Amino acid sequence: MKTVRKAVFPVAGLGTRFLPATKAQPKEMLPVVDKPLIQYAVEEAVAAGVTELVFITGRNKRAIEDHFDAAHELEAQLEADGKTQLLEALRGTIPRNIHCIFIRQPAPLGLGHAVLCARPVIGDEPFAILLADDLMDVDQGVPPVMAQMTQRYAQEGVSMLAVQEVPRAETRQYGIVSSEPYRPHLERMRAIVEKPAPESAPSTLAVAGRYLLTPRVFEHLARIEKGAGGEIQLTDGIAALLQEEPVLAHRFDGRRYDCGSKLGYLQATVAMALKHPEVGEEFGAYLRGRQ
Ligand code: UTP
Repeated sequence: MKTVRKAVFPVAGLGTRFLPATKAQPKEMLPVVDKPLIQYAVEEAVAAGVTELVFITGRNKRAIEDHFDAAHELEAQLEADGKTQLLEALRGTIPRNIHCIFIRQPAPLGLGHAVLCARPVIGDEPFAILLADDLMDVDQGVPPVMAQMTQRYAQEGVSMLAVQEVPRAETRQYGIVSSEPYRPHLERMRAIVEKPAPESAPSTLAVAGRYLLTPRVFEHLARIEKGAGGEIQLTDGIAALLQEEPVLAHRFDGRRYDCGSKLGYLQATVAMALKHPEVGEEFGAYLRGRQ
């Protein structure tokens, strides 16, 4: 069985829910405390053993390339000023022995289309997909969500999606799966539909922005027509994959914050700030003082 070495980060979306903040900067560069969203996702992928990072970018996304590039002038200045902690944080943006590859999606034709743009560099290998606007938080001692999935992949060797229960009233915001129990925290998927209405949703088990897929999905993505919202949907590609291969749904251990929405972003900021080694304690005291 091939190990998962490559991860795709689709970052070419327009981020309209966050306008005007995303008018001139990518949504994925919004900071949660002191790191941009995309860095949380990259760290999660690297912790899962990924060494090749494939970013699918679009217009207005240059800042992401710059973020994962060396910043020699800044480094020299911090070194000269003796600011070693900041220098380490800056250099730590790109872990050693990791390669970044940037591919441009010519137009935001949908998440499925963005993933298809990665096909030439993924080749015939299983690969991860991480949506940076879903920030995943785990308790201390629990492996990050993508690492949970690569561990499971090593045992099962089939495609896998991260899922969680959501209120029925919210099914229209998600891909929803119907499934049957398979192993602890793992379901065998029967079907998947994109953004169903609450009354027609097959369940309340929703896909969170973490996927491990076999390369066979590219065949389907190349064939499918525009789906919900007039976009090429990854969900439709996975639905087609399901017709010929097993796909599992992993009930991940952790919390998902939808940082593409204002409320989710604020919740993530509070959660990460409370955990932050530098400001966590003081911030907690500040919040308690306001109650
Ligand atoms: P979203 O629909 O959540 O992101 O897509 P968006 O389109 O940027 O945001 P809104 O809805 O307008 O506020 C999920 C993920 O897929 C990527 C986005 O960057 C995001 O990470 N995406 C979406 C692409 O890379 N290309 C696309 O054509 C569409």
